[in-house]
Formats: sequence, C-alpha cells, structure tokens
Amino acid sequence: MSSSSQASQQVPGSEFKEKLPLRDGFSTRLGVVLATLGSAVGLGNIWKFPTLTGSSGGAVFIIIYVISVLLIGIPVMVSELAIGRSAHANAVDSMRASTPNKAPWWLIGALGILSAFLIMGFYTEVAGWVFAYIFKAMSGSILSTSSEVTTAAFTSLVTNPVLSLVWQWVDLVIVGAVILFGVSKGIERVTKTLIPVLLVLLIVVAIRSLTLPGAGEGLEFLFKPDLSKVTASTLLAGVGLAFFKLSIGMGAMITYGSYFRQDQNISGTALRVAFSDMSIALLAGVAIFPAVFAYGFQPDAGPSLVFLTIPSVFASMPAGNFFMVIFFILTFIASIGAQVSLLEVLVSYVNEHLKINRKAATVYSMLGLAVFGSLAALSSSLLSNVKLFGLTFFDLFDFTSSNIFLPVGGLFICIFVGWVWGKEKFFAALTNNGSLNNQGFVSFLFFLIRFVSPVLVLLVLLNGLGVFS
Ligand code: PFF
Repeated sequence: MSSSSQASQQVPGSEFKEKLPLRDGFSTRLGVVLATLGSAVGLGNIWKFPTLTGSSGGAVFIIIYVISVLLIGIPVMVSELAIGRSAHANAVDSMRASTPNKAPWWLIGALGILSAFLIMGFYTEVAGWVFAYIFKAMSGSILSTSSEVTTAAFTSLVTNPVLSLVWQWVDLVIVGAVILFGVSKGIERVTKTLIPVLLVLLIVVAIRSLTLPGAGEGLEFLFKPDLSKVTASTLLAGVGLAFFKLSIGMGAMITYGSYFRQDQNISGTALRVAFSDMSIALLAGVAIFPAVFAYGFQPDAGPSLVFLTIPSVFASMPAGNFFMVIFFILTFIASIGAQVSLLEVLVSYVNEHLKINRKAATVYSMLGLAVFGSLAALSSSLLSNVKLFGLTFFDLFDFTSSNIFLPVGGLFICIFVGWVWGKEKFFAALTNNGSLNNQGFVSFLFFLIRFVSPVLVLLVLLNGLGVFS
C-alpha cells in the first residue's frame, strides 16, 4: 500500500471517539513507554518466570518463552495497542467500536475482564507476600543461607490465614490509592524512576549469585537445553507466560493503547517494551538459579522458590540486609505498575460502560477483588483442601488465566485484526496514517498476525488441553 493512500485513511474508530468523554492521556511519549513497560514488568519477571523456569526444565522452557514473545507476544501486543488507540475506549467498547457489523467481538473484551479478575485474585496475594517480606527483611529474621530458616519464614506466612488476608488487602488498598490519582499522574509517576533502580539492584544480585561456589550448575540449568523436557504442558506454560508477561490477551493493552497519543509509534513501543521486559526476566533468572543450586534448593519448589532463595543470596552479601529491604520494596513497586494496569481494565469498563464515576468504580472493583481474592489468599491455609480439577484456588486462578483465557483472548485478537479489522486499518494505525517509515516491518507483523501467531496459539492450546494425545 502506498503511503499516500494510507495518509488519506482515517484512523479507525475516530468517529466513536467523539462520543466519549475526554479521557486522561499519558503526558509524554516516554511516559507511555514506561507505563506500558510498568504493566509488563512485575511479579511475572521476579516471581513467575523463575517459578515456571524451575518447574518446567530450565533452558528449554526459556527458549519456548522467548520464541513465544517474538512470534506471538509482539504481534498480539501491537494489535491490542492499535485497536485501543484507534477506538479510544475501554477494552469492551473498543472492540465493539472496531467491529464493522454486529458480530460479538466485544466478548474478547469481556473475557479480558474475567481474566483481570482471576489474575488479580492471586497476584494481589503474591504482592502481599512481597510486602510482608519488606518487614521480615527489616527485622533481619530471614537473612540466612539455611533453607530451613527461609522455608520456615515463608511457611509461617502463607499458612496463617489472617496474615495472608491482611497483606493481600493492604496491597489492594495501596493499588487502589495509586489508581485514584488518575492515569497519567498515578501510573507515570510510579513507573518513571523505579524500574531502572530495580534493574541495577537485580544486576548486583545476579553478580553475587554468579560468584557463589557451585553457581555453574545454575547457569547450565538456565542455558543448556534438555530437549527431553519439552512436553505439551511446557509448551502451553511457555506461551502462557509470554501472554502474562506482556499483559496481553485480556484487554490491558487495548486499554493502555486508548491512552496513547496519535503520534506514538506503536510497533516501536511494543518492541522496546517486549525486549526490556524479557531482559529483566532473564536477569532475574540469572540472579536466582545459580543460588538455587549453590545452596541446594529445589528448582521446582513452585511459588515459594524466590522467597526461599533470594534471602540466601543477600545473606552472603555485604550489607545484605539493607539491600534485601530495598529489593523487596522495589519488587513491590514493580508489582504496582502491573496491578494498576490489571485494575484499569476493570475500572475503565465500570466507569465508562456502566457510567459509574471513576472513584466509585475503583472502590467497587477493589471490594470485589478483596472478596474474590481471599479464595486465593486462603489456599495454603483454611482452603488448602478445597480443590477444583486437582488445583487449589490460587493455582486454578493462575492456570486458567495464563494457560487458557489469555491465549484464547490472544487467538481471537489475531483473528479479529488479521481477518476482520483488516490490513488497511492496521496499516493506518501502525504507520500513523503513513507518516512513519516502517511499512516493511508492519507488513511482516501483519503476516504474523494473520497466519503465524493464531495457528501457533491454537496448536499449543489444543495440544496442551490434550486434544492430540
Ligand atoms: N505482566 C505482569 C507481570 O508480568 O507481572 C502481569 C500482568 C499485568 C498480566 C497486566 C496481565 C495484565 F493485564
């Protein structure tokens, strides 16, 4: 398509935009990139990536994750941002406004709201643990290289129903407060300064971990693939992680795209976010796995892995306690950017669609989550014996969101953008009506969205659900 024909094309959805009230937007381009990065970077990097890598065979899982980010994650992210910016509304209304006929594509947005609920259900609990660890670190009680000490500290926290609930609710109140300040102010301010600081601290931890005696085994685990570890569930977990990491498949990036400025380069932003996010996850892996092997932890310890291992790395560092406090503070702050974006999916919908003001929408969403999330919070204590499909609520929320809902949402986003929204609108949105000189890359992305990403997601999903076995 020539750039002149794109230039004459209206960015889709702009007619709809007129009907919506003026929305808050990100004030600077850097703010947009950082807030989008703030949504991607969070407990997914520091907690979920190491947890899954440890339980899914190390290097081979990392390769699956990286390929998924490149072939599925980036195309889906770009599609969501483009739809959101073009329609300028929450996920449900953006999908509705972008659909040329009465077909129910808005259901993708509705599924996203359900996913946001499920993810927040367990995410707030893990964030609560991180918050609690700030104080445990301050007291010095967890600074130990002994796995007995660090294991006992973690177990006493998660098996205590009152503490589990209180920390989760504290987290919810903090996130609610951030969101009540409004989009640009709240999100940008929090994200701008802190991700770089977290990065520096992770590098310090990685260097210490790498210089521990016996660290080599950890590196081998991370970088030497054992192909026999590839199974249907590893594949599904790798793809699911790519979705979770990039906050895609559930409308969060549609919602964030709706705050993008018209001159923002969407594909450039998505690439920068995806690569930075992946680097931070890999760095967390390098910070954790050498220590896992050096101190004899089990790489497949599950959700507790990071909470057991990190204190032991700090225990073997000068001024370890001080740095550990900072580490948990920064991890908690990183989790806020992600939680704000999850909540934004709910709040922007309740606010714009149900016409409830933002403040009330935020409060109602928080209250709903406090009740729903307690199912996950109590999964290691009062509800540890309550299982559906063999999973506790915590694991169930995690599994169904990352491994089913997000991939299904992403699959339909690809089909929608590739086959319904179509090439012209996609090009207009991604080249900023022809003003960016990125036609070649946009064509390649469109090819991926149309033919490659949806087929891969579908095969991995069906395979993971046992259809081929
Ligand atoms: N990407 C976030 C993380 O890795 O911690 C989690 C997340 C945020 C998932 C927002 C989905 C989402 F919409």
